[in-house]
Amino acid sequence: MNGIELCATGCSLPTRRVTNDDMAKLVDTSDEWIRSRTGIGERLFCQGGETTTDLAIGAARDALERSGVPVSQVGTCIVATMTPDWASPATACLVAQELGLAQDIPCFDLSAACTGFVYGLRVAQGLLTPERPYGIVVGAEALSRVLDFTDRTTCVLFGDGAGAVVVHGVPDPPLHAVLGSVGDLGALNLAGGNTARETYLRMNGKEVFRFAVQTIPTCIRRVLDEAHASLEDVDWVVCHQANERIIDAAVRRLGASPTRFYKNMERYGNTGAASIPIALDELVRQGMLRSGMQVLCVGFGGGLTWGGALIPYRHQKRS
Ligand code: ACO
Repeated sequence: MNGIELCATGCSLPTRRVTNDDMAKLVDTSDEWIRSRTGIGERLFCQGGETTTDLAIGAARDALERSGVPVSQVGTCIVATMTPDWASPATACLVAQELGLAQDIPCFDLSAACTGFVYGLRVAQGLLTPERPYGIVVGAEALSRVLDFTDRTTCVLFGDGAGAVVVHGVPDPPLHAVLGSVGDLGALNLAGGNTARETYLRMNGKEVFRFAVQTIPTCIRRVLDEAHASLEDVDWVVCHQANERIIDAAVRRLGASPTRFYKNMERYGNTGAASIPIALDELVRQGMLRSGMQVLCVGFGGGLTWGGALIPYRHQKRS
């Protein structure tokens, strides 16, 4: 299977809505500052024991049901997350069990921060076979669990949620994807739960901002070069939804029209590995991403990691 197509999307969102004014009750900030610097208006946080695993299961089930694909034809389940509930078992194993997937397929979590979903698409493509040509790729985060609610430079930026896609392995066209990483502990870090270190997410916002603004255009150009395509051939560009100003700056650098660059961080904040599949699901539900269209997903984040993938959407509801 050289290529993949997106054939269904799903999502699962927590119900606790936290506005910028709510955040201003916790730290010295304001709706005006957060909106003007990030484009974020509110975010959703887990409540009442809701976990990353719950969100991942909900999103994966939603995508699988909407695809109509029988569980026997699913060849892998990958969950991209930096906030798994367990180091072991992997979230993906619990998702597979809950959905009743076959027991002889690889299911695992993938750690590439906010680029994890794009990495997951590329890895899934390599694992699909003619016998089991479908894969489930999930991005799921409960970032509210690792936020320091005394640090205004990070806690206002992030939210919780999960998105998922069912991908179909196809012989042709090949998947056009580029992935990369630059090791950097200071730009964004989050210690594992079993270390003696604090388990809050820490970030040098300016450094990540600079990295993202340089990386997004380079990544898009490299994917398009590989596909012998131009931005005019792409119906939607879905970047990781960290900050509106990052996407706007990247659009300016590309000299592109902003209309194809989808943005929804106003309602969810930065949901890490979940942000791209949540955005894809919104596009599909709103009828804006339709069968036959091409979508370019672009991730960037902790690691530092980056990645882009150009994928056709071809809905094929089976009975
Ligand atoms: N409310 C009010 N003031 C604030 C806040 C806040 N929430 N946060 C910072 N400030 C203050 C700072 O203290 C600083 O004050 P000072 O000038 O008195 O020192 C001032 O605002 C400016 O701070 P900057 O850091 O220069 O603000 P900037 O315009 O760079 O915006 C931001 C900060 C929004 C974090 C930006 O740098 C950014 O978006 N970076 C990218 C972050 C990102 O995308 N992270 C996710 C990566 S994805 C992943 O892998 C999880």
